Amino acid sequence: MTDPVIEATDSAPGGDGPSPASDAALHPGALLQVRDVSKVYGTGHTAVTALDSATMAVDQGEFVALLGPSGSGKTTLISIIGGLLAATSGTVTLGDIDVTSLSKRELTRFRAERVGFVFQSANLVPFLTARENLLYVATLVKTPKKAAQQRADQLLEELGLADRAKNLPEQLSGGERQRVAIGRALMNDPDLVLVDEPTAALDTALGRQVVQLLRREIKDRGKTGIMVTHDLRMVEYTDRVFEILDGHLTHVEEPSSLQH
Ligand SMILES: Nc1ncnc2c1ncn2[C@@H]1O[C@H](COP(=O)(O)OP(=O)(O)OP(=O)(O)O)[C@@H](O)[C@H]1O
Ligand SMILES: [Mg+2]
Repeated sequence: MTDPVIEATDSAPGGDGPSPASDAALHPGALLQVRDVSKVYGTGHTAVTALDSATMAVDQGEFVALLGPSGSGKTTLISIIGGLLAATSGTVTLGDIDVTSLSKRELTRFRAERVGFVFQSANLVPFLTARENLLYVATLVKTPKKAAQQRADQLLEELGLADRAKNLPEQLSGGERQRVAIGRALMNDPDLVLVDEPTAALDTALGRQVVQLLRREIKDRGKTGIMVTHDLRMVEYTDRVFEILDGHLTHVEEPSSLQH
């Protein structure tokens, strides 16, 4: 599996200083702290501000949703949080780790050990079976083989994929591929689980099952989870909801306030 390329940090946007963070977004002592994070893609007249001073905090054991229209900056935000993309300005900390100041080598290790990322496209290794896709990530953190096999089989079972374990990605449906990607993200017992549209390729019943599984994993194992979704029906499984519009992280609401 190739590591996604880390972009060179763009130059900071000029002028305006950090905007005050809203109290609701700040949880003092929360495991994950995102402070005034901005991202500008490109330079000059082609520059796009994808994220403008985003501030949020998520506690350990919390599962939050990130809602927003296409192009609003959701993937950009979780990519920066997971150390896949450099912010133009601002800071992200996970516990005592300042993600935004890690070197390229430190970021590779941080991602392998601490972060489980489920991409919008499942991004499986095409020549490895479902089970091997899970086992592969365990080798990155040197998990003993036996323990890795047990964990992989347990996750495949929980994801309803036990009878698909030997299939290559091309022999799986879109939803099955997405579930393998979720299994892979959970394989190394990450502190932070970042999920981009996990239910887009799933029907409602399966979507609910997958999100419930994510929730259980986050709650039982004390992880911190952020799920990007367009699907309002899935937010009931989350503890809080952040909304993003044109790069502005605007609202922090309880899931119940979004129902109906
Ligand atoms: N590598 C890039 N270079 C230039 N602009 C980019 C790049 N990646 C994203 N953008 C732009 O940044 C903005 C935010 O993109 P992002 O992918 O974060 O949106 P999103 O909320 O995840 O959308 P979707 O729901 O469609 O996945 C968009 O206007 C997009 O066109
Ligand atoms: Mg996206």
